[in-house]
Amino acid sequence: MMTNGTNEQPVHDIEAMRQRGVPDHVGVIMDGNGRWAKQRDLPRTDGHTRGEEALFDAVEGALEVGLEWMTVYAFSTENWKRPPSEVAFIMWFNRDLLLRRADELDAREVRVRFIGRQKRPIPKSLLKIMDETERRTAHHRRLTLQIAFNYGGRAELVDAARALAEDVKAGRLQPGRVNEKSISSRLYSPDAPDVDLLVRTSGERRLSNFMLWEAAYAELVFDDVLWPDFRRTHLFDAIEEFQKRTRRFGAV
Ligand code: IPE
Ligand code: IPE
Ligand code: MG
Repeated sequence: MMTNGTNEQPVHDIEAMRQRGVPDHVGVIMDGNGRWAKQRDLPRTDGHTRGEEALFDAVEGALEVGLEWMTVYAFSTENWKRPPSEVAFIMWFNRDLLLRRADELDAREVRVRFIGRQKRPIPKSLLKIMDETERRTAHHRRLTLQIAFNYGGRAELVDAARALAEDVKAGRLQPGRVNEKSISSRLYSPDAPDVDLLVRTSGERRLSNFMLWEAAYAELVFDDVLWPDFRRTHLFDAIEEFQKRTRRFGAV
């Protein structure tokens, strides 16, 4: 990382970063909203509100550096265990965010996709706007922003296994022909490249059920920054770290 010497803001050489080759698909576990709020004696939900600016700055950074795929973890299948008031806030907030931001995403040529179980208990009004946002931006190819919502890596594999079992039962697939491709083609987003860089904020060093199949060979980068304080410079730092790693995929 370089600094410009005046205000110590990190300066990244975007062009050099692009030339070295950016990851095909960046996964981001946006964590630490509650702790950010707690540090300021604010309700946890204020942390979620402030996470919006972080997300949209990360999207701008992704566009700037030329990422084609980014998946952000917004709500897990386990997050239903939180207090009902926090869950209700997150549902309302995401609906509101999509209503306010859909124009901007569309104008930026961002294709928005949701991965996860897109059904109850997600409120109907949110499901509707999720669907509308996907349809409206489906023709864009500049950046695909996947939002993992009511997403769990195990649930995704269970859903793929069910689809596979149905095909076996119907005689469309022989059990002996089941291979990695038959599983990956039944995941939520079969055309997405594998996640090759996975970033988690807030200092936690775990996957929390995120992209278990897709991130099998991802480079992991853990950043102590709490999600509401995340900015594109943190994304650039992670990409630079990725570019320094030697990827072997089991070979020598
Ligand atoms: C991430 O921040 C947002 C969601 C999981 C919805 P958290 O709400 O998990 O924040 P911490 O981890 O409690 O600080
Ligand atoms: C993972 O964060 C889920 C999201 C960021 C949406 P959590 O905060 O829910 O994960 P744990 O509970 O610390 O593992
Ligand atoms: Mg958390």
